[in-house]
Amino acid sequence: MKTIRAQYAQRGPEPAQWIAPVEMDLPALQPGEVRVEVLAAPINPSDVLTLTGEYGLLPPLPAIGGNEGVGRVIEAAADVTALPVGTVVLLPVGCGTWSTHLQLPAKALVPLPAGVDPVQLSMLTVNPPTALLMLRDFVDLKPGDWVIQNAANSAVGGYLVQIARLRGLNTLNVVRRESAVAAVREAGAEHVLVDGEDLPKRVRAIVGDAPVRLAIDCVGGVSTENLARCLVEGGTLVNYGAMSGERCMISPRYFVFRDITLRGFWLSQWFKRATPDQRKALFAEVGGLIAAGTLKAKVQATYPIADIAKAVAAAASGERAGKIVLVPNG
Ligand SMILES: NC(=O)c1ccc[n+]([C@@H]2O[C@H](COP(=O)([O-])OP(=O)(O)OC[C@H]3O[C@@H](n4cnc5c(N)ncnc54)[C@H](OP(=O)(O)O)[C@@H]3O)[C@@H](O)[C@H]2O)c1
Repeated sequence: MKTIRAQYAQRGPEPAQWIAPVEMDLPALQPGEVRVEVLAAPINPSDVLTLTGEYGLLPPLPAIGGNEGVGRVIEAAADVTALPVGTVVLLPVGCGTWSTHLQLPAKALVPLPAGVDPVQLSMLTVNPPTALLMLRDFVDLKPGDWVIQNAANSAVGGYLVQIARLRGLNTLNVVRRESAVAAVREAGAEHVLVDGEDLPKRVRAIVGDAPVRLAIDCVGGVSTENLARCLVEGGTLVNYGAMSGERCMISPRYFVFRDITLRGFWLSQWFKRATPDQRKALFAEVGGLIAAGTLKAKVQATYPIADIAKAVAAAASGERAGKIVLVPNG
């Protein structure tokens, strides 16, 4: 059986330059294995950084793109009874999901509920757990507490707003451009602010005397300090991305005089440390919320695998209206 996979043999500053669809043969099906047609796989900023060589974990070359996604079992070895043909499954992280078909050990796959939009399900592994864990694991927040985040129009930002609302938390949502405000409001965020020097003043006008104890930063640069200035004394700032490409700029005065703590979050580290039960519980929680339609991300466009270079270029560009998702089989 043939598969088409998005392969790259070089990395460089232009992420779409080296990636192209390549036809390959799948090997003969072995005991314990299944064949899967890939239904959907997103292109995340971490995929773009993997293509440019700037990510924290780089596979050896040549490599197949795609970190997360969902598929449907189309063939199973005779000894595989747990995943009948037709089962929709979550693909294992880092298996090269930008492919039309994959052959994988059945035990590496997690069955998912039928009848759910595969495009939404395909984004289950990375961004919703990131939002959930950052809200849960750094500051002991209670209903009614305030959290501030930047890049609020990102997928993580959108999930964070939705999860915070479920937990009774209030969010202050910062974006870098006026044109993103309406979309974040439409997605359910009450308070949306454009980043800037006077951010703390505008935040104070909303929260009054209430403390903001958690700030979540995926931008870096001066945006990090703008968030820090909104925090209460002793507050925590968690950085999880570098969308500006700049280092987190924060004056020592916020550490010394305001006792602000700066932390980092990387989901890969969390997965390494978590027990199988903790991972299972996390996927069950976010999977259930996506299946119920409670958690969703905006999608700007889907692309077939033949257009992988165009899809990567679209994902790498700023000011999008949502995620770019590969639907490899069209
Ligand atoms: N640490 C972890 O474990 C972890 C896990 C998941 C995601 N992440 C990180 O989280 C971030 C968001 O991921 P996502 O999938 O939610 O992203 P996304 O939906 O693709 O959105 C990208 C966001 O970045 C903003 N952005 C783009 N270029 C920018 C720039 N030069 N300066 C400031 N903002 C810029 C965009 O704003 P515009 O619309 O205005 O361009 C948008 O808000 C990424 O940095 C990703 O690597 C980290």
